[in-house]
Amino acid sequence: MLARRFPATGVFTAAMRDAFVEDGYLLIEDFVAPAMCDRLIARANELVEGFDAESHRTVFSTSSVAHAADRYFQESGGEIRFFLEEEAVDTAGNLTRPKNLAVNKIGHALHDLDPVFSEFSRQPRLADLARGLVKDPLLLQSMYIFKQPGIGGEVSWHQDSTYLYTEPMSCIGFWFALEDADSSNGGMLAIPGAHRGPLRKRFRRVGDGLVTQTLDETPWPKTPPVALDARKGSLVILDGLLPHYSSANRSPRSRHAYALHVIDGTTDYPADNWLRRREHLPLRGF
Ligand code: FE2
Repeated sequence: MLARRFPATGVFTAAMRDAFVEDGYLLIEDFVAPAMCDRLIARANELVEGFDAESHRTVFSTSSVAHAADRYFQESGGEIRFFLEEEAVDTAGNLTRPKNLAVNKIGHALHDLDPVFSEFSRQPRLADLARGLVKDPLLLQSMYIFKQPGIGGEVSWHQDSTYLYTEPMSCIGFWFALEDADSSNGGMLAIPGAHRGPLRKRFRRVGDGLVTQTLDETPWPKTPPVALDARKGSLVILDGLLPHYSSANRSPRSRHAYALHVIDGTTDYPADNWLRRREHLPLRGF
């Protein structure tokens, strides 16, 4: 089943708010102009050009925790860092393809450190949406996700609040399809309404490492998932508690996306959260 969707009218209507409260997601088509999608794609490619793939071989995988022990990952909350696809690195540690086709994602402070992504992330239309959902939105994390053709890995079922945790919980994700995303190239699935369930896991710091702690064993609801198929320029807003998933991309088409997460500045941000900022780079709003 396909998710319900709304046109981008520039107004956050009561019907959109009701849909978000009911489903835990909101899909708005044509939120980003195609030329802006292309600009972000080009900028990400420029950033990858400057990435020294020889010295940083951190693989990002949601099915293993190798990256969690890696300082390059652990300190990425206030940096622009590059993580590779599992299948892009052979057993000897060599890249199996050009680096622009080997990167899984860039994270996690593009929105503060890169002028192109900062301007995009702080556009007034987005600020209005965020302020309609969160009292005092702070831009916590950004990711450029490549979902590479042929090898782009699966992202297993999860809730974003597992990684972006506040007390009380307040994480909201803004996910922008920069290219068409559907079931053939690793588009997202979500369980509508399942954001009303508890947070199942929390990813946090313990000593020098990162661990995934189980908070609640409640299984995901049996409700059939909906496909968040999103054509280029669509915005998908995700409640931090909504379980979602994306399959591996085995198609020949890439599926680039940009994800920005906000939290409410009036909530508590625990000191053992995995994502930390350098002292001179405090979180900012819009
Ligand atoms: Fe997610």
